[in-house]
Amino acid sequence: MNKVLVVHYSQSGQLSDIARQFTQPLVDAKDVTVEFENVCPQTPYPFPWPFFRFLDTFPDSVYLDPPPILPLKVSANEEFDLIIIAYQVWFLSPSLPMTAFMQSRTAKKLLKDKPVVTLIACRNMWLLAQEEMKKMIAGLGGRLVGNVALVDEAGSVGSFLATPVWVLTGKKGPHLGGLIPKAGVAPEKVKRCDRFGARILQWFREGRTLDQDLLKNLGAVQVEESLIASEKTGRRAFRLWGRLFRALGPAGALSRQCLLVVYAVFLVVLILTVVPLNMLLNKLLAPLMRKRIEAQKAYFAEPSGSASEIVDDPIVRVQESEYIR
Ligand SMILES: Cc1cc2nc3c(=O)[nH]c(=O)nc-3n(C[C@H](O)[C@H](O)[C@H](O)COP(=O)(O)O)c2cc1C
Repeated sequence: MNKVLVVHYSQSGQLSDIARQFTQPLVDAKDVTVEFENVCPQTPYPFPWPFFRFLDTFPDSVYLDPPPILPLKVSANEEFDLIIIAYQVWFLSPSLPMTAFMQSRTAKKLLKDKPVVTLIACRNMWLLAQEEMKKMIAGLGGRLVGNVALVDEAGSVGSFLATPVWVLTGKKGPHLGGLIPKAGVAPEKVKRCDRFGARILQWFREGRTLDQDLLKNLGAVQVEESLIASEKTGRRAFRLWGRLFRALGPAGALSRQCLLVVYAVFLVVLILTVVPLNMLLNKLLAPLMRKRIEAQKAYFAEPSGSASEIVDDPIVRVQESEYIR
C-alpha cells in the first residue's frame, strides 16, 4: 500500500480543487491511501482582500516570515511514499501559509529523505517562488521529483488586471463586458490535471523509485521567457521596499500605513513605465540572448519539463514534435 500526503491551502478553493483533481486517480485506487492536510493560519487571511491589507502582506511574503498556523492533523512520525506540496504564489514567493508549513517541525520530519512533488496554481509568475520552494525542500532533506505549474487562462496581459481584481473583489469576472477577462486557471486545464496522478499511480504499481522523470512528457510547466527578467527585477524591488517596511514594524502597524500609500503610487508608476519598457527591451534583445534565454528556460522547467506526451503514432509524433519546438 503506497501512502501519499497532499499539503494544501487555498482562499478561493481553486488550488484545493486542483489538488483533488490531480490526485483523483490515486484517491480512486484501492492500493493507495491519500491524506489531505489543509494548512490553516491561526488568523485567516481575508478573501477578498482589502487593498492596503493586500499590499501590506508583501514584505513578510518576500522575507518568508509567516504567521502562526493551527496544529496540523498529520503526525510528524508518519511515513509517506510521496508528499505533494500544493501552493500558490504571493508576491513572487510561496504563499505565507505554505511557507509556515515548510518551516514547521512537522514538515522537517515528514519531508526528510522523501520524494516531493510541487503543484502550483497562480497568475503566471511562479519561477522565483519555486526557487524559494526548492531551497526549503532541500533544506528539509526532501527530494524534488516533479513540478507542475498551472497559470491563469487570461494570459500575461489579461491576468495583469484580472487576477488582482479577483483577489480584491472575490469575483472572477469577466468584468466590464469582457474588457477585464475571467481570472483563474481554465476549467479544462484543471480537469486534465488528473493525468499527473495517473502517472504517479502507474509508477507506484510498477514498483519504480520516484525520480525526476516521474512527470516528464506530460506538459507539466510552460516557462514564459519574457517573465524571467521581470520576475528578477520585481523581486529586487520587493526585497528593497520590504526591508524598509519591516524596519517600521510588523504587518498592520500604523507606521507602515503611510509608507503603504507611497508604495502604492510607486507601484502604479512602475507598472505603467518600467514594466512595459522592460518587456520591450527584452523583446528587442531576445535575438542576441537566445542561447542564454534557452538555457534559463530549460533550467526553470526542471525537473518535469514542458514537453507534452509523445504518443507512439507517426502522425501524432510529428505533430507533437512541431508543438514542442
Ligand atoms: C497576496 C497575493 C499575492 C499574489 N501574488 C502573486 C504573484 O506574485 N504571482 C502570481 O502569479 N500570482 C500571484 N497571486 C495570485 C495567486 O497565486 C493565486 O492565483 C490566487 O490568489 C488564487 O489562489 P487561491 O487558490 O488561494 O484562491 C497573488 C495572490 C494574492 C492573494
